[in-house]
Amino acid sequence: MHSFSEICKLYQKQRDTFVFPTSPKNLYGSINYFLDLPGKRVRPAMCLMVNELFDNIHADTYIVAYAFDLFHNFTLIHDDIMDRSPLRRGRPTLHIKYNEGTAILAGDTLLIQCYALLNQIESIYRTQIIELFADTARLVCEGQQLDIDMEGMEMETVNYADYLEMITLKTSVLLGGAAQCGAMMGGADEGQQVGLYEFAKNIGIAFQIQDDYLDTFGASAHTGKQVGGDILENKKTALLVKAFEQATSEQLIRLKEAFQRKGEDKIRAVMDCYKILEVDLWAVEAIRSYTAIAFDKLEEIDVPVFKKEKLLELASSLLVRQS
Ligand code: IPE
Ligand code: IPE
Ligand code: MG
Ligand code: MG
Ligand code: MG
Repeated sequence: MHSFSEICKLYQKQRDTFVFPTSPKNLYGSINYFLDLPGKRVRPAMCLMVNELFDNIHADTYIVAYAFDLFHNFTLIHDDIMDRSPLRRGRPTLHIKYNEGTAILAGDTLLIQCYALLNQIESIYRTQIIELFADTARLVCEGQQLDIDMEGMEMETVNYADYLEMITLKTSVLLGGAAQCGAMMGGADEGQQVGLYEFAKNIGIAFQIQDDYLDTFGASAHTGKQVGGDILENKKTALLVKAFEQATSEQLIRLKEAFQRKGEDKIRAVMDCYKILEVDLWAVEAIRSYTAIAFDKLEEIDVPVFKKEKLLELASSLLVRQS
């Protein structure tokens, strides 16, 4: 069994063997620019590590893992346009570095490439992997649409259940799908596949709440993103939803007033309200609690305990991540 960092090294070797054409220069140059930025590789690693729970890593699992990686990068490139984000992984976002048209096409090309890759895997796996991949990909788009819809909604009208549905779709199902595909490639039975999907889905919920937390309370030097971007865009994050849920009528007035402000002043004022309402502490607890649910799901899966250790380590390392 390999650790997260060992899997990332193995994966990187395979990743380096996939090359894009060189022309048109701006299309493929922008794709290479984005793919070479330092991402954490959580989704491909999840896919490969879950395969290894059941059997040696199948050569085609690297292709499936790469498809999840490319799909993730496609969503980030388009997400940065939707969220008007200037920074990603410590560098200018693709639409800023190149232009919006190129960013749209780079994303489209990556998405198309996912299916071209999956079409190459051994035929006994192909149909079910492509079906699961396509279902997952569609759900992510649904989640992103809910995210955009909620951006325009009045703050107090978004409740925690709506928020959970949105993040489950935009973020968690992709981790779930990567895990389930890894299980399929490893020869897991249906019960084990569902168990691993549930494990990774709950990790994904914790992962997105942490992403929301880091957007406000993290350091740009670590996250590689603009601090306070979610506040500027009125994103319905875990922090915002919980703050509006918990505020007294007086605090509600102050919170709404903070959201009326602009720029750095808005970020500071909203952050102060969050601190007073202790939604930062609440978020840390929520991240811990969804990770604990994930651990329980993993424990229930019918696989020798020692094989699960590396996945538990991966989940624990995500709990303390700063980027
Ligand atoms: C960012 O994902 C998008 C979310 C779903 C929160 P990651 O934090 O995994 O991004 P990279 O690939 O490591 O940059
Ligand atoms: C990301 O949500 C979800 C997807 C890209 C599908 P965010 O918009 O919070 O991700 P970051 O913070 O920009 O990475
Ligand atoms: Mg974003
Ligand atoms: Mg977004
Ligand atoms: Mg975010």
